[in-house]
Amino acid sequence: MVVTIDGPAGAGKSSAARELARRLGFRFLDTGSMYRAVTLAALERGVDLTDTAALEGVAEEVEISLDDDRVLLDGRDVTKAIRTLEITTATRYAADCPRVRAQLVDHQRRLADGVDVVTEGRDQSTVVFPDAECKIFLTASEEVRAERRFIDLVQRGEHVTRTDVLEKQRVRDQGDSTRAVGKLYKAEDAIEVSTDGLSREEVVDRLLEIVEERRRTT
Ligand code: DC
Repeated sequence: MVVTIDGPAGAGKSSAARELARRLGFRFLDTGSMYRAVTLAALERGVDLTDTAALEGVAEEVEISLDDDRVLLDGRDVTKAIRTLEITTATRYAADCPRVRAQLVDHQRRLADGVDVVTEGRDQSTVVFPDAECKIFLTASEEVRAERRFIDLVQRGEHVTRTDVLEKQRVRDQGDSTRAVGKLYKAEDAIEVSTDGLSREEVVDRLLEIVEERRRTT
């Protein structure tokens, strides 16, 4: 079974999707981490992020593995290094590049081949797994999302302001919903869940309910 969870930045997708996968005993794919890892690799190689051919070359060259809670880039643990504000902001170049997307989409499909997965991102329900048995669109209001991101970054030791986080989120939202390939939108057959006012446990419970319901009916 494939469970896809798409939605904007800060809707609480990652933590809820990871926990959902754990409870179901499914493999978990955090696809945003792949775009982040390509970006980190490109910056480390001194690649100009606006050079799409070079960026594509980096995506082709590197090996990204998702190993439970860890993200490995050519075998090196980059789980923390890909979560900085710098990488978060710079990742739009990889996400906007259709050829990088094509490679990562292939990779995502291979990782889901023959196993049960919960996969999380922007285009999982629409592009990567259009035939998924269970599709969820996870959202939250702009303010709630920015506040969550702010707390998360402060806990990671980043020096940021709420205004800065909200501004950057608006730019990302705009980019995510307008890119030429793989833009974020709710698939017609996806179930929308707002996480406003819900605890993480409540979100996971709601997602489990949806998956169980789909399992009964498909
Ligand atoms: O979910 P995230 O914040 O880790 O995603 C990082 C960036 O990658 C974000 O700008 C959106 C982009 N992304 C994407 O374009 N497609 C995906 N399937 C996942 C993430």
